[in-house]
Amino acid sequence: MPLISTSELVGDACSRGSAIAAFNVITLEHAEAVVHGAEEAGAPVIVQISENAVKFHAARPIPLTRAAAALAESSTVGVGLHLDHVTDLALLHLAADAGFSSAMFDAAHESYPDNLAHTAAAVRWAHDNGLWLEAELGYVGGKPDSPASAHTAGVRTDPDEARHFVAETGVDALAVAVGSSHAMTTRTATLDHDLIAALAAAVPVPLVLHGSSGVPDEDLSRAVAAGIRKINIGTALNIAYTHGVREFLDRDATVVDPRKYLARARTEMAGVVRHLLATVSG
Ligand code: G3H
Ligand code: ZN
Repeated sequence: MPLISTSELVGDACSRGSAIAAFNVITLEHAEAVVHGAEEAGAPVIVQISENAVKFHAARPIPLTRAAAALAESSTVGVGLHLDHVTDLALLHLAADAGFSSAMFDAAHESYPDNLAHTAAAVRWAHDNGLWLEAELGYVGGKPDSPASAHTAGVRTDPDEARHFVAETGVDALAVAVGSSHAMTTRTATLDHDLIAALAAAVPVPLVLHGSSGVPDEDLSRAVAAGIRKINIGTALNIAYTHGVREFLDRDATVVDPRKYLARARTEMAGVVRHLLATVSG
């Protein structure tokens, strides 16, 4: 199957009243697990590569992106490719040529006027270059340099501000701060479902939930029912990866062939992908 654009995958989720899951990948094994797990679930999926993941690969986005695109092309389900949490305009400007159909431009740490102005400029560039663009309003937090948590006063997305932000920037999707936080290793986040519903009513574009690894299954389903249309998941894969490797190495101190423990990591990640797709894709 050829690569499917994020625009089409999110559009399909909107018309079904469902959500598309988007998984952050760091290594080839992550990408293989996401595509394999989606095939087992029989559901489409988005593979995301973040600016931080690109930095990990010596600031070279092409090798992992091409590998993910090749996996998508031989997949039995629709797979999209999204560049996530971009703050560096030079990287954003590489996105289309690198093979991404969409990006998330992240200026959420800036003041409202600066976020709006910088996002509007990024949207103009993205649309001129055929890219679907997501941006964040409010502050999800939890990233290594976060100045605030999900519960700091004033970080939640305000529906009136969201209406204004979407109209002024022309953004294609809005990432919202509704109680989740990045990089949680326990599924204990409490979402504000009334706020999600108010935001869905306020803006004409799909809503995106970030930091979804920390959200329990039931809350993920309720978030979709309230209007979330794209669900971003990263840490859950890293927990599964590390658990698989650690358990293997703890049981066998003599192993030196990485295929043995990476195969375990990949199987565990694919299981997480299968489970979460069943939870959110409906
Ligand atoms: O953009 C990526 C996500 O928000 C992932 O967050 O690692 O907490 O699941 P997470
Ligand atoms: Zn995120």
